[in-house]
Amino acid sequence: MAPGTAPRLTDGPFVLLISDRPTERAALERAIALVMDCRSMAAGGTIPSTRPHLVVLDLPPARAADLDAALSYPGPPLPRLHLVRGDPAPAAPQLRQLPAAAPRQVVLATVFAMIEEASRTSALRKRRLMERVTGATAIVTDLFDSAALGARLQQDDVERGTELVLAAVSEVGISTWLAEVWRHDIGVYQHTLGVAGHAATFGTKIGLSRTDHRLLVRSALLHDIGKSRIPVEILNKPGRLTPEELRLMQRHPDIGADMLRAQGAFEATVIDVVQHHHERIDGKGYPHGLAGSAINDLVRIVALCDVFSALTERRTYRPSATAAEALAIMRDSGGQLDQDLLRVFAPAMLGSEALTA
Ligand SMILES: [Fe+2]
Ligand SMILES: [Fe+2]
Repeated sequence: MAPGTAPRLTDGPFVLLISDRPTERAALERAIALVMDCRSMAAGGTIPSTRPHLVVLDLPPARAADLDAALSYPGPPLPRLHLVRGDPAPAAPQLRQLPAAAPRQVVLATVFAMIEEASRTSALRKRRLMERVTGATAIVTDLFDSAALGARLQQDDVERGTELVLAAVSEVGISTWLAEVWRHDIGVYQHTLGVAGHAATFGTKIGLSRTDHRLLVRSALLHDIGKSRIPVEILNKPGRLTPEELRLMQRHPDIGADMLRAQGAFEATVIDVVQHHHERIDGKGYPHGLAGSAINDLVRIVALCDVFSALTERRTYRPSATAAEALAIMRDSGGQLDQDLLRVFAPAMLGSEALTA
């Protein structure tokens, strides 16, 4: 922390108070600390890397605007209270504003109400996230079970899974989504939900239309459906696969595509993704050795999400790469992956660094 800041008391939730009025800062800090850990600092201090529960900014307009922009944490908008000098800023989600001249009791009453509100919201959000991960896991499990048994895949399930992933990732961000997904050791389902989460994040980043965004996430949810027919001993084998096992494993794109084609209800794009997500730009992928423009954009995006996910997933038999390491490996893969897309993909994925470090 910067000079002049309070020592960190706990690892729990805290209010971050940034003020250039030392007397007011000290008084507010003392009062807030009775309710929740309060870290206070003057403008120009180092912003904590952990996300505060609530931020209180008491600064001149220009400094407040700079700091507000610097206070960016993964996840939903951070609740903020600005003690405003001059005109209030335009309204924004989770932003409350009071005149800096407001009586201290009014400021404190607002801070306490916001702390309570943020606690309620975060408890609710946590519960909703758990329900969504559990729901999406059950859906993916059902899809894989149905596929393994040769039963029909339920379109409704795919739709519901897509909506759950999109809703969760847009509400809590990819890092929190992955943290919850990775809490459960659910192998191929965990991978599927990771790839779908990355696809949801990237789709937002590049501004896909609602229809294309859903198509992308749906394709990601189904991309490895062919693995449902690969023996689990091969799927979960910790070491290298034998040439025979590898040959079988590399059939999963064709198996999945055939399965979806046989059902007749899936879009050609989804089938394309399922069949070609292991094709590589330089033609060295499988199963058909497609190259360059023969691999369409959605397939290339799912390929990026797939490789990134696989590299950063937690596996018991090998350490996972951090987001930065995974992106470096992907950049060094030469002509395998779409480097133009990767340049847009990389910044969108660095938000998950905290989880993979
Ligand atoms: Fe795959
Ligand atoms: Fe995959």
